[in-house]
Amino acid sequence: MVDVLLGLQWGDEGKGKIVDFFAPSYDIIARFQGGPNAGHTLYVKDKKVVLHQIPSGIFHEDTVNLIGNGVVLDAVTLKRECETVASFGVDYAKNLYISERTNLILPTHRALDKASENLKGNDKIGSTLKGIGPAYMDKTGRNALRVGDLLDKNFTTQYIKLRLKHQKLLDSMHFQEDISAWEDEFFEAIEFMRRFKIVNGEYFINDKIAQGKKVLAEGAQGSMLDVDFGTFPFVTSSNTISAGVCTGLGVPPQKIKEVIGVTKAYCTRVGGGPFPTELNDATGEELRKIGNEFGATTGRPRRCGWIDLVALKFACMVNGVTQLVMTKADVLDAFSDLQVCTAYNVNGKEQQQVPYQMTKVNIEPVYKLLKGWNKDVSKMKDYSELPDVMKTYVSYINEYLGVNITYISNGPGREQLIPAK
Ligand code: GDP
Ligand code: IMO
Ligand code: MG
Repeated sequence: MVDVLLGLQWGDEGKGKIVDFFAPSYDIIARFQGGPNAGHTLYVKDKKVVLHQIPSGIFHEDTVNLIGNGVVLDAVTLKRECETVASFGVDYAKNLYISERTNLILPTHRALDKASENLKGNDKIGSTLKGIGPAYMDKTGRNALRVGDLLDKNFTTQYIKLRLKHQKLLDSMHFQEDISAWEDEFFEAIEFMRRFKIVNGEYFINDKIAQGKKVLAEGAQGSMLDVDFGTFPFVTSSNTISAGVCTGLGVPPQKIKEVIGVTKAYCTRVGGGPFPTELNDATGEELRKIGNEFGATTGRPRRCGWIDLVALKFACMVNGVTQLVMTKADVLDAFSDLQVCTAYNVNGKEQQQVPYQMTKVNIEPVYKLLKGWNKDVSKMKDYSELPDVMKTYVSYINEYLGVNITYISNGPGREQLIPAK
């Protein structure tokens, strides 16, 4: 049996914290897409850790963590992250498995990402520059090197062949930076990876499912960054939605049970692209300050705005969300009025659907005004303690979406998560 936990907005919904919390109820935590563009924050013994490649179950001794075939893997980031988790006394060699079909991010992918963004000028995606787009292009273009290839004695020859191809592209894009230092650390990290548990991920996970083990598939990014259903072209290069679990791990759809969607109590986005409820004013600034909204991977300030129920309902639909987790509820403590976007006014016409091409139309959010609770909720432990005004906010969202919030997160700590009821 497989449950899925994923982000419903533009990423950074707090997936890492929630996966870490749920991990003891599962045998395996498996990442199914994305790469080091992800930054999943957890607190272990009151110390902050940001994971980019390793699944967020790694701090639980009895939990197996799998990097699935749908992921793009940067060996250098992985090595660095292994060193970080080891400093917490975690024996990563015991619990971390990597699928042999996982595609590798090469130093030239990072260079190509940078060159491509430079050429875009004002139309920049605002990519994390981790090489994600070029690595997925090599996967669908059928050129990529995969983790299983590491064990092949021709690995270096294959690498040089692909590098030459990339160099021609880089030359045509006038990219002139010297990346030899990146290559040195890449080969060092490749050597490190050869000692890992490299497995046939699809047999590995299906065998475990057949034995009755419980799997939690951990999403990266968010549904509005999905390459098909997000705000294209301002998206990432993978399927971030629940369908990505089947292709990203090799599990059949009938095995998927719960789809847990994570949403902030408001909304953020980092990088370029449409964001109908964005607040370019003092309220947006306050959300960023109180919510400490700065990217976990790049440190960039996140754009902030009110919760967008039109986009959330769309995300619930394409994912088949069965329950919701609402994070960062405590960030709204300071606000007397809360706006909730219930429709879009698209070129003068009101609608409750997400337009196919959000970049080419003018979208004005239509808001419903709800009361704020104006109370510190961060120390509350039980649903009965939460202010009635917050319960009204939660019920309004539940009703609009037709899916219930089952947990409310009221702080970054592991213990700050309240079952809703
Ligand atoms: P992810 O990418 O979805 O895992 O989310 P990030 O880690 O990028 O960003 C979420 C940020 O919010 C992190 O700094 C978390 O520590 C923090 N966070 C998570 N849940 C809560 C919450 O309920 N309240 C507050 N104040 N912070 C939270
Ligand atoms: P987590 O897993 C927020 C954004 C980038 C950029 C766009 C494309 O922490 O939620 P890419 O590097 O993927 O080519 O960038 O997607 N982006 C994220 N934004 N959280 C993330 O991951 C993101 N991963 C990518 O800012 O706009
Ligand atoms: Mg993040």
